[in-house]
Amino acid sequence: MTGGPGGDPLAAPLTVGRHRLRNRMVMTPHLGRLPPRRLRRYVAERADGGVAMIVLPAGQGVYANPVYPLYACPGDPDGYADPDAVSFHVRDPRHRRVLLAAAHEHLVGLADAAHGGGALAVGQIHHPGAERGWDNFQPALAPSQVRGDDTGAVPHALTAAEIDDLVTGYLATATAIVAAGFDGVELHAGHGYLLNRFLSPHYNRRTDRYGGSPAGRLRLIRRILRVARAELGDRSLLGVRLTAGEEVPAGIDAAGAAGIAAGIADLVDYVNLSLGNHDGLRDGRPATAYTGSWLVPPAPAAQTARQVRAVVDVPVLVSGRITDPTIARNLVADGAADLVGLARALIADPTFPRRAVSGDDAGIVRCVACNECVRVPFSCPANPAAGREAEFDPRPAAPPAGPAPVRHRRARRRIAVVGAGPAGVEVAVGAAAAGAEVTLIEAADAVGGALRHLVGTPLLADWAPLLHRLEQRLAPLLDRPSPAGGRVVLRTGTTATADHPDLIGADLVVLATGGRPGPVGFPVDRPVLTTMDLMAGRRPPPGTPVLVVGGAERHLEPLLAADLLAGEGWPVQVCTECVDIGPDLDQRTRPAVLRRLYGRAVGFAPMSRVHRWSGGAVEVEQLFTGHRSILDAGAVVLAHGRTANDGLRAALPADLECQVVGDALAPRRLTHAVLEGARCGSALSAADRR
Ligand SMILES: Cc1cc2nc3c(=O)[nH]c(=O)nc-3n(C[C@H](O)[C@H](O)[C@H](O)COP(=O)(O)O)c2cc1C
Ligand code: SF4
Repeated sequence: MTGGPGGDPLAAPLTVGRHRLRNRMVMTPHLGRLPPRRLRRYVAERADGGVAMIVLPAGQGVYANPVYPLYACPGDPDGYADPDAVSFHVRDPRHRRVLLAAAHEHLVGLADAAHGGGALAVGQIHHPGAERGWDNFQPALAPSQVRGDDTGAVPHALTAAEIDDLVTGYLATATAIVAAGFDGVELHAGHGYLLNRFLSPHYNRRTDRYGGSPAGRLRLIRRILRVARAELGDRSLLGVRLTAGEEVPAGIDAAGAAGIAAGIADLVDYVNLSLGNHDGLRDGRPATAYTGSWLVPPAPAAQTARQVRAVVDVPVLVSGRITDPTIARNLVADGAADLVGLARALIADPTFPRRAVSGDDAGIVRCVACNECVRVPFSCPANPAAGREAEFDPRPAAPPAGPAPVRHRRARRRIAVVGAGPAGVEVAVGAAAAGAEVTLIEAADAVGGALRHLVGTPLLADWAPLLHRLEQRLAPLLDRPSPAGGRVVLRTGTTATADHPDLIGADLVVLATGGRPGPVGFPVDRPVLTTMDLMAGRRPPPGTPVLVVGGAERHLEPLLAADLLAGEGWPVQVCTECVDIGPDLDQRTRPAVLRRLYGRAVGFAPMSRVHRWSGGAVEVEQLFTGHRSILDAGAVVLAHGRTANDGLRAALPADLECQVVGDALAPRRLTHAVLEGARCGSALSAADRR
């Protein structure tokens, strides 16, 4: 293939329909639930970052109700933004006049944000179908009554008349999206949602003209595409997001996906392929989540994309954990796809496309697929500014009206930051960027804090780019002053005490000293190990059965300890006081982690509290029944969370200003520490600008 500047296939422009994409990178839909103002700013930054086309979740649902009778749809002008509103019926004239009008301004803002940075804007219409949650008090919808994989909802099987109304709803939404200035529309027919189910021989069990055969299953989507094309003309892009496979017996496989793509290619300008569904469970069995965690290989839809590309003559887009520009480049160069889709890669670094086409791969901040961003609200540990672009904008806010304040020249602030983990480094970088003289004091020999230990474990080794990012952010400020004249002096291997000259001489001390293992909490007759001990290289006696005590810890710690020991051959049981295992892991990551642990024969005892460990036996209470039993354990590992390591605060002179951030304030997940450190650094910058 012909490459772009310098022969880079990612940089090559591509004509799609009547439009020209400036390169091969497309932002696939995400973060539709950000508040509108933040979403606009988020989109604008991604467009500025060089992505060629931005597909946005612009039609959340079809905005209208095709199922209840017309008189039973009370209608709500905010229906597009209100998740449990029963919106107008599609045949109610107020649907177009009121509801779509209410959404118009929001959509115009999004299209403008994309266009402002030179990207095309495409609005995705997405109906969750059987995966609509229970909590919006409306029925889930599907071609047939097959339970939702994620919600477990038994859906209503749409009647032929309701399907007619559904088509009207899709058309009205498509028209509204284009009327707001979008360059086109994408139908979401993947990820197990409504249109995906109509295409699937597993989920579509109909015997009428909308099922029963490949042509029958294609009938609905072809009908929607035909009316949309007739209404929108050739000028608007029309694309479809398809599943690359369903991973259930008799579901869509790669050949099936190719057949579906071939069956709609005459009506679309591009096909977008993605593998997986919401939670990574299909029919109760482990499968792929479309937002795959770090445990899932990159680009799982690539082989299917290649098969699809062989049978269609429109561009094929492939997406799914493409976070490395080399992988992206190879997918295009090898002919697996014409376009690559990026979602989380652009959360982590909006400049990914610009850097990739200019050959600055090393400068790209990598997404590690930790899936913090699938939570609502979210924060990304690789880019705390994601979704908070205005909050972290280094440009000064517009000055208040009135005469300019008299500015006094003042000495540079001296800031001592204790602890060079994720929070401490963020504070130091932010403060130095604002012109402060920062001393960053770290007891260990290198920066990273707990993160350095975490990425040394087998479970989290793939999170290493987060550590590299910290090092990269700090490095320039160690060598030379920031543009504002600030710099960082790093003192590793130094234990900060209250009388340390760097602390005594500082205008502000920031404690980012992290957490420490919580107290044991039950009688023991020999020393226990902690997760921290394991990460530092200590191990139980070889071959001895190990009990990992998770206590009420809801996130990764007990699972990480169990994974490490089971992977090295210890028989491991995890005892947790939670009802579920790892309940605070996001729902797309949890099945992948549990699959790995069950594969290593780790045993679990939920709702169980340890009362004592003596003579190699652990007394455990089952919290539902109160029944106590004895487990064999030659070693006990405490993985039940941390307490704040903030002892230095009380020892500091009372008149020394001190701020505590991250786990030293309250132990939480990594992403909390990064965001809090970044916020503290940014607040110091703002204070120095005032
Ligand atoms: C928070 C979030 C929301 C998403 N919402 C949508 C959506 O509305 N429609 C859609 O087709 N895909 C959605 N996706 C999936 C992404 O478009 C993409 O397919 C997926 O994240 C895998 O690609 P990535 O590894 O580049 O992130 C969402 C992803 C995330 C992280
Ligand atoms: S939160 Fe995690 S998965 Fe999401 S973009 Fe950031 S690094 Fe990637």
